[in-house]
Amino acid sequence: MTTHTIGIILNGASGRICSTQHVANALAPIRDEGGLVAGDARIVPRLMLVGRNADKLAGVAKSYGAEWTTDLDKALADPAFTVFFDAAATSQRQGALEQAIAAGKNIYSEKPVALTVDKGLELLRAIKARGLKHGAVEDKLGLPGLQKLSRLAASGFFGRVTGFRIDFGWWVFDGTEVPCQRPSWNYRRKDGGGLILDMYPHWRYVIENTLGPMRRVVSSLSTATPARVDEKGGRYDVDVDDNASTLIELEGGAIGTILSSWATRVRRDDLLTFQIDGSSASAVAGLHRCYTATNAQTPRTAHFSIATDLNIDYRGNWEEVADPGPFKNPYRIGWENFLRHLVTGAPMQADFAAGIRDVQFAEACYRSVKDGKWVSLAPLS
Ligand SMILES: NC(=O)c1ccc[n+]([C@@H]2O[C@H](COP(=O)([O-])OP(=O)(O)OC[C@H]3O[C@@H](n4cnc5c(N)ncnc54)[C@H](O)[C@@H]3O)[C@@H](O)[C@H]2O)c1
Repeated sequence: MTTHTIGIILNGASGRICSTQHVANALAPIRDEGGLVAGDARIVPRLMLVGRNADKLAGVAKSYGAEWTTDLDKALADPAFTVFFDAAATSQRQGALEQAIAAGKNIYSEKPVALTVDKGLELLRAIKARGLKHGAVEDKLGLPGLQKLSRLAASGFFGRVTGFRIDFGWWVFDGTEVPCQRPSWNYRRKDGGGLILDMYPHWRYVIENTLGPMRRVVSSLSTATPARVDEKGGRYDVDVDDNASTLIELEGGAIGTILSSWATRVRRDDLLTFQIDGSSASAVAGLHRCYTATNAQTPRTAHFSIATDLNIDYRGNWEEVADPGPFKNPYRIGWENFLRHLVTGAPMQADFAAGIRDVQFAEACYRSVKDGKWVSLAPLS
């Protein structure tokens, strides 16, 4: 067996998502377990953490046995590191990826891979011109609940799909009484904030990989919390959406909805739920669990009872999908796919083009709000 040590530069490494999911739960465990076995290759990641805050970087590096630097140029100049991964704040992404592509690094990127489709396509052209490998983080399909749901869809369980619904979000405090749970840049346009830009890339690949291509979309959005308090206690105005509703028509004809909000209090099965309805059955998945109801399990509801609460448990007839796993960390699934793709040439479904399609969905939703119209989602050429 040949061992391939792959040097990976992780940009934004002390940030929330990079330090926890990508380093602690994906790359460090792969390395510490002796590497990823792919055919007759063993792939061992070597980590170079890059960010702005030396103390934070040194802390993460010490915990997970990584190298670190605050000097991105120096990291990019090192030929031992052939992969560049970006998980820094969204607004910095384009410049960082351009630099990494120019340095000839293979590219793996957090979402959104670009701020606009045009910018994303520019990056993809540059990646292809240099013959680099590429991938995008599309982690949510790896959630156990959504894996169960997509297996049901692939098996034809629903019959003809008649509709679907994604319901997502929770209350994000404005920082006055309780500290805000999300970085303040998420609520500033100049920093790449906005709920649609942040979350809709996920809904694109979740929907299209489970139910097929989207034909068109129409959205509305609002700013539910117009002012917030940042990490340093300063008050700032929110100039982006934190609440959005979208109607989606699939190529297959079914219509679905997405409700996403940072200004809602949860009283549903989970923080994210995805329901699919079909002529034979329905299913609803949360992050971990998935429940189904077939026609045989569906009550023959005929009318409301206005006078009396009939006290019916409408959840009682749903059955939990028995699938004990094992389920891997979704970010680790992404890294394993990308590392295999790098070394063995295995196909990478979540490539940079898929990441641009994720951006296309967010962009189409913003355009539909601006124009007050449905916007079509023709495949990207
Ligand atoms: N796949 C997912 O589920 C998921 C979840 C969260 C975030 N993300 C993406 O990961 C990226 C980072 O998000 P995060 O929540 O970890 O953010 P974060 O604020 O915790 O981390 C951002 C990192 O970027 C660096 N940075 C560089 N320039 C910055 C600037 N101008 N302002 C603030 N930070 C700057 C910071 O030092 C920090 O290391 C974003 O692109 C976000 O969309 C993806």
